[in-house]
Amino acid sequence: MKTSKYLFTSLILLCFSLSAEAIDWSKVETKQITLFYPGQSSWEWILTKSDHGGAKNFRKGKDCKECHQGEEKDMGALLVSGKRLEPTPIIGKRGSVDAGIKAAYDKENLYIQLTWKESTETAVTKMTQDQTRVTFLFDDGTVSSVKRGGCWAACHDDATGMPNAHADKNLGLYLAKSRTKLTRKGGGENYKPAAALQKLLADGLFVEFWQAKLNQDKTAVALDGYILEAPHKNELTKVVVNAELNNGIWVLEMSRKLTPNMPHTKNIVTGKVYNFGLAIHDAYSKGRNHVVSFGHAFALDQGKADLIAVKQ
Ligand code: HEC
Repeated sequence: MKTSKYLFTSLILLCFSLSAEAIDWSKVETKQITLFYPGQSSWEWILTKSDHGGAKNFRKGKDCKECHQGEEKDMGALLVSGKRLEPTPIIGKRGSVDAGIKAAYDKENLYIQLTWKESTETAVTKMTQDQTRVTFLFDDGTVSSVKRGGCWAACHDDATGMPNAHADKNLGLYLAKSRTKLTRKGGGENYKPAAALQKLLADGLFVEFWQAKLNQDKTAVALDGYILEAPHKNELTKVVVNAELNNGIWVLEMSRKLTPNMPHTKNIVTGKVYNFGLAIHDAYSKGRNHVVSFGHAFALDQGKADLIAVKQ
């Protein structure tokens, strides 16, 4: 009896793992996204008229892409060179990365596939243990700053490595809504009280992130979490990642259940538009030394989003 139960469970598990690998990516259209080096262009820099030519109209409602689409390569080249917004340029770092992105879903999961060229940079200083780290950050429309500014919504002037970083405190990514006050220097430690933060979380005012740590010849490692007043890693990782580096090209697949119905997690359903940003830390880099995309959007099946996940 026990054996048959075991066999039955194994069969079910096998079916699940087979279905998890069943996406036929050749049937899915590729969208091209250019990620670029952002230097120290923080949320506060973006909003300040004397710093950023687009501040006035960004404040009025234009989003980054409306002004900058197609300029990513030039912007990345300028910033990575150290001529603007980068006090300590890294020699040999590339200013932009072209990535192909595809999305698909089945009964259970959403799948995102990313393809891009591995860096040829030789990391003089290895800032981390990981050759490459890919981050997919998204929201379901609750956080308006992510809709407007993608990853910049979480990147502040007082975070580590930014112009107003606190010497004795490491602030990471956070959302402006988690602070009682935000100045040109960021939100610092003006945290809203714990109960208010809990309420924001309950209302879905957080961004979710998926991450893949990639090292050549090693199995990719997944982690996920959410950002509100700081980044939080989930204890139980829900994202599954698979990656391969072949002939200098990375192919990464990230997937997660569509509707985990769990705290700190966004359910992915038809009819909604999800805003996302992508970041790649390559050549053992960390902090601002990455390439980032402007904000884009995905949706299941149809809609105005620029990335449509196709059902399989
Ligand atoms: C209304 C148009 C407009 C919008 C919206 C806008 N920008 Fe800009 N941005 C500009 C202009 C014009 C410049 C060049 C002048 C300057 O540097 O201030 C610029 C410069 C920049 C630069 C410096 C690099 C360079 O080429 O000079 C960065 C980085 C940047 N923008 C990022 C962003 C991001 C990120 C967003 C969205 C969160 C955004 N911008 C939204 C118009 C805009």
